[in-house]
Amino acid sequence: MRNDDNIVDVQNLHITFGATEVVHGISFAIQAGETLALVGESGCGKSVSALAMARLLPFPPVCTVEGKVLFAGQDVLSFSASRLRTLRRSGIAYVFQDPAVALHPNLTIGYQMCEALQGSTADRKKRAIEGLALAGLREPAALMKRYPFTLSGGMQQRVVIAMALAREPQVLVADEPTTALDVTIQAQILDLLVRLQRKMGMAMLLITHNLGLVAARADRVSVMYAGHLVETGPVERVLQEPAHPYTRGLLDVVPRLEGHAQPLEGIPGMVPSAGEDLAGCPFASRCRYRQDVCEVQNPCLQPRHGSDGTCAVACHFPLEGGKHRAG
Ligand SMILES: Nc1ncnc2c1ncn2[C@@H]1O[C@H](COP(=O)(O)OP(=O)(O)OP(=O)(O)O)[C@@H](O)[C@H]1O
Ligand SMILES: [Mg+2]
Repeated sequence: MRNDDNIVDVQNLHITFGATEVVHGISFAIQAGETLALVGESGCGKSVSALAMARLLPFPPVCTVEGKVLFAGQDVLSFSASRLRTLRRSGIAYVFQDPAVALHPNLTIGYQMCEALQGSTADRKKRAIEGLALAGLREPAALMKRYPFTLSGGMQQRVVIAMALAREPQVLVADEPTTALDVTIQAQILDLLVRLQRKMGMAMLLITHNLGLVAARADRVSVMYAGHLVETGPVERVLQEPAHPYTRGLLDVVPRLEGHAQPLEGIPGMVPSAGEDLAGCPFASRCRYRQDVCEVQNPCLQPRHGSDGTCAVACHFPLEGGKHRAG
């Protein structure tokens, strides 16, 4: 089904490193102006899926990407080098976990901000200062002359966000944007992202481990497990009535902002390693509701009853009202 409001439309995405497939045919779409949260434990394939949107993964044979990636209806996987440059300049911008990595240590904030912009020198400088102010940084003109190491981590991340938004991207990918920051700063940065996303009307892909607090700021949420999409739906519904036992388990983790979490208390066991040959549901070995069929047949993502197609879950025995029928 083609939806013209989708700025990003990823269909049946497979990502393989060498001989190991790490993303097994996931699909997701983001509408213009909407925030989709992509949630799951470390290694489940969130970052590589996001990088595939702008073809930022290594080339074959190191990495192969199959499926469809549409940006504004155009097939990114067949883009020429120049169209890819345009896509990366003004289509999709990325903000990663650690601002210190994104900023060049030996260049002033002003230089790096202006580099992200186009136009005359005076115009770029003016817009750089506006961008820093928009990101909540005080005395932006003075800040332009400073070097990254003179700023706190929270201020550095605000600069990185300002740099990403200066390109006026249609889609912002925020990949664990607060995980490297102090807990007190994390909420401020998240709120800044959401405020700017609404103000600028761009779409956002918010990648997080944290289903409780971080994903709650999105419109919709997609939950990944071991390279599969296991549940998707509007945020309120998924948080109030998770249908997949894995999603339920993520919610049972003590909700703290700090992303890199403690082991999942509600979920014993380990994520299967990438490339492990699994006939059944990838979550079966950790699922307390598993039955025989779960060991042999991987459930596909199916619309949830009574959700008008907005919610889907990949489970043979989905929870109802957030609870297991028998339990
Ligand atoms: N350049 C690479 N070469 C080989 N394997 C890779 C490479 N990048 C990622 N992988 C593998 O792909 C899988 C998915 O990685 P990815 O970084 O997308 O996970 P993630 O969900 O973003 O995890 P985290 O929450 O820790 O960031 C992992 O098994 C990882 O080891
Ligand atoms: Mg990642």
